[in-house]
Amino acid sequence: MEKRFRFAGSILSADLLNLEREVASAVEQGIDLIHFDVMDYHFVPNMTFGPGFLKAMRQKFPDVIFDVHLMVSPLTEQIVTDYAKAGASWISIHPESTPHVERFLTLIKESGAKAGLVLNPSTTPNMLRYLWDKIDFVLIMTVNPGFGGQKLIPATLKKIADVKRLATEANVKPVIEVDGGISPETVAVAASYGASVFVVGNAFFGQKDRALALLNLHKALE
Ligand code: DX5
Ligand code: ZN
Repeated sequence: MEKRFRFAGSILSADLLNLEREVASAVEQGIDLIHFDVMDYHFVPNMTFGPGFLKAMRQKFPDVIFDVHLMVSPLTEQIVTDYAKAGASWISIHPESTPHVERFLTLIKESGAKAGLVLNPSTTPNMLRYLWDKIDFVLIMTVNPGFGGQKLIPATLKKIADVKRLATEANVKPVIEVDGGISPETVAVAASYGASVFVVGNAFFGQKDRALALLNLHKALE
């Protein structure tokens, strides 16, 4: 059975010169997914990992769930296809990055990956109502995307409940994932509103004792 709560370690906050070791030890310590932030200097003011890098990771870690968060603009078919072929397990896209959200969600699903829609702090969840059959998960940004280590924006928490309500109304059960500023202080309230997958950058990779950090995150959910 699927775990009730899962943690996605964001390698943005890992030791970038030792990512192979970082992913191996994170998985060993009990991290459930590896969150892979893709940034292009257009959609967000930062730049990160390409598909070649994901492919190399996938070869080393055939069983890891790679949760690829595309922060790129404009989104193109090539970008989605490249990351899918490189081994993404989950792929999420921002509606601001393309006028053709439905088409891209379909493309992701056809590629065999799980498809997710990402909601920025100021993005309304309304369009979910027309997209549920194309959506496996909703990624709710609890900070403005671009950087790790930011403080959670409290107003975004209510959106978790809004998404949950929209899903219940539509009789669907998407995974709800939250991204940004998740810590032992914020994780429980996010869970109480309906989130079950938590991205942790600073709260896991940024900590000296990561096993303890993960334990404290789990404890906060008890
Ligand atoms: C922000 C990224 C996040 C980031 C989260 O743009 O989408 O995945 O790594 O980092 P923390 O957990 O440190 O807020
Ligand atoms: Zn992310």
